[in-house]
Amino acid sequence: MRRNVSVIGAGNMGGGFAVHFAIHGHDVTLVDHREANLEDAVKRIEATVTELNEGDITDRSPDAVLDRITLTTAQEEGVADADIVLETVPEDLEIKQAVFEAVGEAAPEDAVLASNTSGIPITEIQSAVPDHADRVVGCHWWFPPYLLEPVEIVRGSQTSDRTMDRIREFVESVDRRPILVRKDVPGFVWNRIQNAVIRECLHLLEEDVASIEDINAAVRDGYARRTSVIGPFETMDVAGVEQFRTVAEHLYPHLSTTKTVHGTFDELLAEGRTGIDAGAGFLEYDDPGEAIVRRRDARLSALARCFDSFDSPASAESSDSVAE
Ligand SMILES: NC(=O)c1ccc[n+]([C@@H]2O[C@H](COP(=O)([O-])OP(=O)(O)OC[C@H]3O[C@@H](n4cnc5c(N)ncnc54)[C@H](O)[C@@H]3O)[C@@H](O)[C@H]2O)c1
Repeated sequence: MRRNVSVIGAGNMGGGFAVHFAIHGHDVTLVDHREANLEDAVKRIEATVTELNEGDITDRSPDAVLDRITLTTAQEEGVADADIVLETVPEDLEIKQAVFEAVGEAAPEDAVLASNTSGIPITEIQSAVPDHADRVVGCHWWFPPYLLEPVEIVRGSQTSDRTMDRIREFVESVDRRPILVRKDVPGFVWNRIQNAVIRECLHLLEEDVASIEDINAAVRDGYARRTSVIGPFETMDVAGVEQFRTVAEHLYPHLSTTKTVHGTFDELLAEGRTGIDAGAGFLEYDDPGEAIVRRRDARLSALARCFDSFDSPASAESSDSVAE
């Protein structure tokens, strides 16, 4: 069913949402408090749709996608007809609470009020809008939202069952896989796992066990590549629970359990090595770093195409017939 979706915040995530929701047939209102950010978002939306066309992910023209997107700085008008509001402003509790206070009053009284926070507890956002708390829910996507399938749906302490059902139905309507986060814990599921892996990568680096390039390759081309086709619990079952129990007993005492932030972060920041925009972070970048982003998105598109064709009914039939 076609819905009115208001996206608050036209940054990296907001522009991506507008593209993805418009491609999936919804009408999108993209709201930002700065006109210039909306103008930048239009350029990013056009570039994203062009890339998705090149990657055979869609065949819509940028103009056809933009036709479904209304841009505005008038937040209250922008949510007045919304079925779903998805907030994606900076990761700051006060900013998010202020947005929810305003849209809670301005949106229709049965609109779902969702937050794309990466890790702020939903219950803390709800505390700012006691009259609308049952309609507030976490709806956390990963970047780029038009290429990655799982979306965390996070229940705050006051989120109603009806809100949970409606946001899940919306996420499925845009061809995404809801991950139900039953407890409102910091970092939810994805960011806890991602940061557990990153903590161990930094530990290995600081202990001089391997180079940045080699740790990168071990995760990217080995662990993550296999994990993209078989999850951790399936992996343990395939190897045998006994084997993983034995490894855990020997290995856990050696893994990082630090609760303080690694010194490497502060050393890099002190040197101005803040990441691709500065031309350097953990590694060096020439252009400034655009190639790595293009390569990431091209490879993600290729993987999506590959999985789609591999998992399609026609392909399943042909693999069955090979098995016979
Ligand atoms: N970038 C990612 O990879 C990523 C991934 C998952 C989740 N998130 C989460 O998504 C949210 C947004 O992240 P982002 O990277 O898109 O940020 P961003 O800085 O690129 O964009 C934020 C946008 O919000 C706008 N904004 C700020 N205050 C506003 C207000 N009061 N009303 C309307 N617009 C306002 C800003 O002008 C900006 O355009 C954060 O909570 C972040 O943690 C980001």
